[in-house]
Amino acid sequence: MGKLDGKVAVITGGSSGIGRAAAIMLAAEGAAVAIGGRKAAALEEVAGVITQQGGKALTQTMDVRDEAQVAALVDAAASELGGLDIMVNNAGVSHPGNISDGKVEDWREMLETNVLALLIGCREAVRVMKEHGGGSIVNISSVAARSTGDSGQVYSATKHAVNAISDGLRQEVHDANIRVTVVMPGGTLTNFGRTMPQEVLTAAAKALGLDADEEGVKHGEYLPSAGVERVLRDHPGVFLAADDIANAVLYAVQQPPSVQVDEVLVRPSVGMSLGG
Ligand SMILES: NC(=O)c1ccc[n+]([C@@H]2O[C@H](COP(=O)([O-])OP(=O)(O)OC[C@H]3O[C@@H](n4cnc5c(N)ncnc54)[C@H](OP(=O)(O)O)[C@@H]3O)[C@@H](O)[C@H]2O)c1
Repeated sequence: MGKLDGKVAVITGGSSGIGRAAAIMLAAEGAAVAIGGRKAAALEEVAGVITQQGGKALTQTMDVRDEAQVAALVDAAASELGGLDIMVNNAGVSHPGNISDGKVEDWREMLETNVLALLIGCREAVRVMKEHGGGSIVNISSVAARSTGDSGQVYSATKHAVNAISDGLRQEVHDANIRVTVVMPGGTLTNFGRTMPQEVLTAAAKALGLDADEEGVKHGEYLPSAGVERVLRDHPGVFLAADDIANAVLYAVQQPPSVQVDEVLVRPSVGMSLGG
């Protein structure tokens, strides 16, 4: 018997990294999951893993920056899977860089994806959860919500906003039996770094003793999964694995109604300074 038998979960950005791991883990515990993302093939791969392990998954190709598409994902979960108990607002992007020479289009994508879409996801989840007597919302923030360096400030600002939104929402929906948790990952080895310039990716691979060309580490593309597994195995504690954050999500949503988990901050034990 799973810890989440009979529950229904929506995960935005369920096609890759932390969202993918959370979808597979929640499904393994018995939840029926609805996953959204822009890449149909990647979503189907995740659904295939879930189905193979005996779980139930619904996929929806969508862009979280479109209000109607977020509402449609939540409604599809409610109508096709039977309600909404767990909403994981996970989709996010990062564009490295500072403010002095930053690009508005990069800032707009981060603000629209990390903040505005998360707000819409919260509102749509609350709408359905209120009809079903409550639920759990997990917002994926970052350790960057706790500090601001001299680069990546706008990304950091979006994650400060996620924490403020989560705090405010928690107070707003407490009486409706809706619990709100913010999960703050440190550096996690996912496909998140694909927006970084190739020279940064090449240097990061080199620092791990790897040749980016040989490993197939390319700007704009997903990392080869065999390489990810090897780095996690050969350099323990430098990065977290996506499963480490999925575990935090599972911890938050499996608590009894008497327990509210406000925040979970998870860092790699060696790569303490690695943000994300
Ligand atoms: N990796 C880290 O070190 C780290 C650290 C702290 C916090 N985080 C946070 O963790 C969350 C997940 O990131 P990750 O590391 O798992 O990165 P990832 O592997 O790049 O996954 C990001 C997911 O978000 C989806 N996404 C992005 N923009 C979207 C859009 N407009 N519409 C729909 N889906 C969209 C992506 O799907 P498509 O590209 O297919 O649309 C993908 O499924 C993010 O909020 C990130 O800020 C990551």
